[in-house]
Amino acid sequence: MSHWLYLVAAAVAWEAGKPLVIQEVEVAPPQKNEVRLRILFTSLCHTDVYFWEAKGQTPLFPRIFGHEAGGIVESVGEGVTDLQPGDHVLPVFTGECGECRHCHSEESNMCDLLRINTDRGVMINDGQSRFSINGKPIYHFVGTSTFSEYTVVHVGCLAKINPAAPLDKVCVLSCGISTGLGATLNVAKPKKGQTVAVFGLGAVGLAAVEGARIAGASRIIGVDLNPVRFAEAKKFGCTEFVNPKDYDKPVQQVIADMTDGGVDRSVECTGSIQAMISAFECVHDGWGVAVLVGVPNKDDAFKTHPMNLLNERTLKGTFFGNYKPRTDIPRVVEQYLNKELDLELEKFITHSVPFSEINKAFDYMLKGHSLRTIIRMED
Ligand SMILES: NC(=O)c1ccc[n+]([C@@H]2O[C@H](COP(=O)([O-])OP(=O)(O)OC[C@H]3O[C@@H](n4cnc5c(N)ncnc54)[C@H](O)[C@@H]3O)[C@@H](O)[C@H]2O)c1
Ligand SMILES: [Zn+2]
Ligand SMILES: [Zn+2]
Repeated sequence: MSHWLYLVAAAVAWEAGKPLVIQEVEVAPPQKNEVRLRILFTSLCHTDVYFWEAKGQTPLFPRIFGHEAGGIVESVGEGVTDLQPGDHVLPVFTGECGECRHCHSEESNMCDLLRINTDRGVMINDGQSRFSINGKPIYHFVGTSTFSEYTVVHVGCLAKINPAAPLDKVCVLSCGISTGLGATLNVAKPKKGQTVAVFGLGAVGLAAVEGARIAGASRIIGVDLNPVRFAEAKKFGCTEFVNPKDYDKPVQQVIADMTDGGVDRSVECTGSIQAMISAFECVHDGWGVAVLVGVPNKDDAFKTHPMNLLNERTLKGTFFGNYKPRTDIPRVVEQYLNKELDLELEKFITHSVPFSEINKAFDYMLKGHSLRTIIRMED
């Protein structure tokens, strides 16, 4: 157990929408049930961008963002028995305490203790931050704060993975890719030969497309407003594309016309409330299932006619593709390593920058140029 305060470089967000500032931050030692880890690679997910922009979300600054990453345990706090220094881990924004009703349920990953909380900027053990600058606290983000050379995470939010797994690639399994893949495979569960629509063809949506391909979907309809996405999506197995901007009727109508009444499954990965409603209304009555993945603005409301539900459509939502981080993610990493999953993580990694250029990752995502940008902490 290490009692030292570490002085490390972290990318601090001081104000909404302003470039992150890389500066020295004190990282306190891990407390009870906490782990301090060295981040080697992290990547940018759109959820970081929403809370950094704070347009439709509660602002909390100064804050250290980042939740998709791979790292190595440096030290462990009291009560941590299943991790030790040197272990390779993926931090996850939603945790698994292993003891609550959700953790005991086969169907849920919504742990009572460690489920995602985007508005809490402190650790649950003592309600304080482990980051500070000259004694002034800097807030955490979703319990991970990976835009820092070292961070402190609750042990329940760490998946221990095979050290043979390349962290510069499997880091994307710590949020976006597992989320999209699981949304299709664990939640939408298309049957072989069924038709699937995926709204939003960023990394999360393309991982949902991969899931549909792995499940044996016959048609995979990709929906996006950014036409640049379509060429990319073809490589992931999308068979058809719809840009809502090309039509003067609602996209759900376009899809219903293409599919004799609607798709069997849809997965929404945009964060747009309009797309969420369309994703629901484009599934076939009688059996269609829609799964929402995108993070909405805090004031959004989902509006649809109840008849759409009475007509035997199902609406679902998921965090992290319903994977339990500690139980399931080590196995997903094994499946990737053994090539059992037919999942090429390289395809999602379009850019890579040194930590000093982290702001470029935001720029690429906002311009719609990137899927995932890997941020290398050590050069
Ligand atoms: N539920 C979860 O556990 C979870 C986990 C990770 C990410 N997310 C959310 O998933 C979403 C996707 O994340 P990402 O990192 O892939 O983002 P991204 O920005 O790379 O991709 C989003 C895509 O959606 C498209 N889009 C936006 N509005 C649209 C609309 N109205 N119709 C069609 N397409 C539209 C964009 O053009 C873009 O290509 C975000 O909302 C993110 O916050 C949720
Ligand atoms: Zn994410
Ligand atoms: Zn739990």
